Amino acid sequence: MSDTPRACVIGWPVEHSRSPVIHGYWLEHYRIDGAYVKEAVTPEDIGGFLRSLSAHGYVGANVTLPHKEAALRAVDHADDAAQAIGAVNTVWLDERGALQGSNTDAYGFMTNLDTLAPTWCDGADVAMVLGAGGAARAIIHGLVESGVPRILLTNRTVAKAEALAREFGGPVEVIPWETKNAALSACGLLVNSTSLGMTGQPPLDIMVSALPASAVVTDIVYVPLETPLLEAARARGLVAVDGLGMLLHQAVPGFERWFGVRPAVTPELRARVVATLEAG
Ligand code: ATR
Repeated sequence: MSDTPRACVIGWPVEHSRSPVIHGYWLEHYRIDGAYVKEAVTPEDIGGFLRSLSAHGYVGANVTLPHKEAALRAVDHADDAAQAIGAVNTVWLDERGALQGSNTDAYGFMTNLDTLAPTWCDGADVAMVLGAGGAARAIIHGLVESGVPRILLTNRTVAKAEALAREFGGPVEVIPWETKNAALSACGLLVNSTSLGMTGQPPLDIMVSALPASAVVTDIVYVPLETPLLEAARARGLVAVDGLGMLLHQAVPGFERWFGVRPAVTPELRARVVATLEAG
């Protein structure tokens, strides 16, 4: 077998994944003799596939929908972030051949925010998170770890928000979906983790005008890059951070594990990914 390190993104389906564009760019940029490919693996096969990653020729992988929870069960060891979020998105084989799992989504979300809106924490005594799916879990973990004292969580299906609040406890407080606008005046940070505003989905109905003038608004949706939420925030003069940076930053720790170089998130990388989004 060749010594060229190979990694992959595992999903079902996996065609839409932008990860090969990101890692392919870095492999080229850092002149690394490595490979990063897509692997379509069914839910029935995911456990077996991960447990025989080396036999498949890989040193590690990203794991995407719908396999992130199954990956947590399949790894030999999951780090604190993966355990807290309840999902694994990055795996690698350690020097003993054990399968290690991490979740870099919270890291990606927070690093994107810290980079593009470094003042976000100045006004963020209260943050509001819209949505209670998989992405919300990572975002809440990131915000709790960053020490945000109060996190208002709201979701169309209130029971899902309540379950998350029970799990993360502490600063997380559930408010009814219908009352979110009334609570905005206290919020220094607004995060959309729902699919609302994504191309083909209904718009997100929220009163950006009710936020304080110092508020930062961020969206995990990145198709379109400029969602109606971000457009409305910018029109009001608020700092608005799009969701693509989270995707780029979450890829950094995996690349470093597999290929031995900590890669940089640069405007050139971003432009490369934006070009693929525009191509559809
Ligand atoms: P992800 O893993 O990306 O977070 P998900 O788990 O499917 O995806 O979560 C999608 C989120 O968008 C959920 O919070 C969902 O609300 P429900 O829990 O009530 O389903 C939210 N969402 C999707 N469509 C919505 C809509 N039309 N109105 C309000 N919220 C919606």
